[in-house]
Amino acid sequence: MASLHNPCLYKLATDERTTVNEATRDTELDATTPMAVLEREHQEVDAGLEYFVAHGIAGAPQLRTALAALRRHIFVEEECLFPMLQDPALRMPLFVMLTEHRDLWRTMDEIDAALDGDGPGDRLQVLGRTLLAQLDRHNSKEEPIIYAHAATALPPEAAASLTEVLETARVPVGWSPGPDD
Ligand SMILES: [Fe+2]
Ligand SMILES: [Fe+2]
Repeated sequence: MASLHNPCLYKLATDERTTVNEATRDTELDATTPMAVLEREHQEVDAGLEYFVAHGIAGAPQLRTALAALRRHIFVEEECLFPMLQDPALRMPLFVMLTEHRDLWRTMDEIDAALDGDGPGDRLQVLGRTLLAQLDRHNSKEEPIIYAHAATALPPEAAASLTEVLETARVPVGWSPGPDD
């Protein structure tokens, strides 16, 4: 599931023994490090979901935007960030993250189905609150464990590649989170 559409330049550079990051080596990373960008995406997704929960169906556009952003965020984590983290101590935390991604994805699919259907209106509200709660549990582990480790462990060229992927990645049609193959 995971590696057919790998967009990660760091992995490609490693696999092909090229130096695709020469041109980006001088990129300013301090104010917008990839880990800071990922944390900001957490906040933006939360804000979109909270808007929907507060405003109901009038907030459907914000809900759809948040879902698209969260799917892309998970895609970048699984296809680029997580494979960069090779410390054995992270094996179990990363497994938990992958498991929770699948739970988040399932809830998002349920929200999509509810948005496209004509079921009870409060079903969407319940699902929106469920997704917010799942994200709270997920991000409260991911930021202090995974992101904090990556912020100090990633070499500059890996961080630069992740930044580039964060700017350009799109989720391939049919992609879904899953365990490494
Ligand atoms: Fe995340
Ligand atoms: Fe995550």
